[in-house]
Amino acid sequence: MKVLTIIGARPQFIKACMLSKALRSNAGVNEVLVHTGQHYDNNMSTVFFNQLKLPEPDVYLGIGSGTQGEQTGKMLSELEKVILSSNPDMVVVYGDTNSTLAGSLAAAKLHIPVAHVEAGLRSFNRQMPEEVNRVVTDHLSHWLFCPSQTAAENLRREGMEEQIVVTGDIMYDAVLHFKKHAEEQSTILQDLSLPESDYYLATIHRAENTDDPKRLKSILDALQQLHKKVILPLHPRTKRKIDEFSFNDSIDTAHIEVVEPLDYFDTLALATRASVILTDSGGLQKEAYMLQVPCVTLRDETEWMETVKTGWNQLAGADREEIINTVMKQRTSKESPPIFGDGNASQKIAETLVSDLNHKERI
Ligand code: UD1
Repeated sequence: MKVLTIIGARPQFIKACMLSKALRSNAGVNEVLVHTGQHYDNNMSTVFFNQLKLPEPDVYLGIGSGTQGEQTGKMLSELEKVILSSNPDMVVVYGDTNSTLAGSLAAAKLHIPVAHVEAGLRSFNRQMPEEVNRVVTDHLSHWLFCPSQTAAENLRREGMEEQIVVTGDIMYDAVLHFKKHAEEQSTILQDLSLPESDYYLATIHRAENTDDPKRLKSILDALQQLHKKVILPLHPRTKRKIDEFSFNDSIDTAHIEVVEPLDYFDTLALATRASVILTDSGGLQKEAYMLQVPCVTLRDETEWMETVKTGWNQLAGADREEIINTVMKQRTSKESPPIFGDGNASQKIAETLVSDLNHKERI
């Protein structure tokens, strides 16, 4: 049985590492791993493969950056060739990036059933490229593997009951699996001479924040005025925008420590010990919850409302005052219901796929 997996961006390397392991433990499964090259810098791609022991991609497309249509279009045309030549029984895509959309579209047009891991998320904001990618991918997919009940409810409202499988969140599998490795192997706290639990970890990369100079400046000003030191691993997109808008002077490096994008273990180690995480990343909002660290989300809405409802996550948008006030009134909530499942999502996904492919009449 041949499974073609399509990945291309940082969070997909983490998710795929867990499912690849589960799939490849089945003797009859032959996985073909395709990397679109959406992320291509060493610290955005290669380090994840090495650290997570993800197998080398069988196919590397090297698409690189571009406008939304240009990047997705190039991927679509290259992925079609790969799918035609490898003739898989199914295609697996993850999350909501342009690699996800191109992969699901190429497969669906060639009548290859698609499995969408992390299905059903909605921000209800179509301005986000990720929201468009999610909606289209869900509607093209045969298996919709949902990380949470909220995700499943979203899909039911869109009439997709039949394909839903609630598995829990595959990123939770990864956190449980790698947390100890991160604690043992990461030296980031010592490298940055950080006092434990006396710093904030911040990340900014969403187009809505990086490409709007008003929002970006307001967030940077807020970070500058927080009363603890801020560690800011800088995504290449954000770095470029800070240079373009000449905001470098707004960053007092004695207070905001700007570092290169971090690998997974350093991110987990820093996140675990942070007193608050400030982020516009979906993944880090979830990891904050999983690690029981309060989170302030630098967006006006979130796909992960469960984390807000439990009190661990608060939406602050990009307003300077709002961000500062929200950080000040953070509290450690005591309730941590298992909203992301039991850490066995990858196993459940692999079992469903293998069982269905052994009974092709179900597809
Ligand atoms: C993408 C996803 C986003 C996901 C994020 C994870 C889409 C639409 N967005 O956003 O959902 O949360 O990945 O990180 O797919 N760049 C480099 N080197 C790299 C990669 C990117 O310099 O290795 C720079 C390029 O200037 C590029 C910009 O970052 O133009 C944006 O990269 P892109 O892959 O388009 O989107 P992300 O912002 O990373």
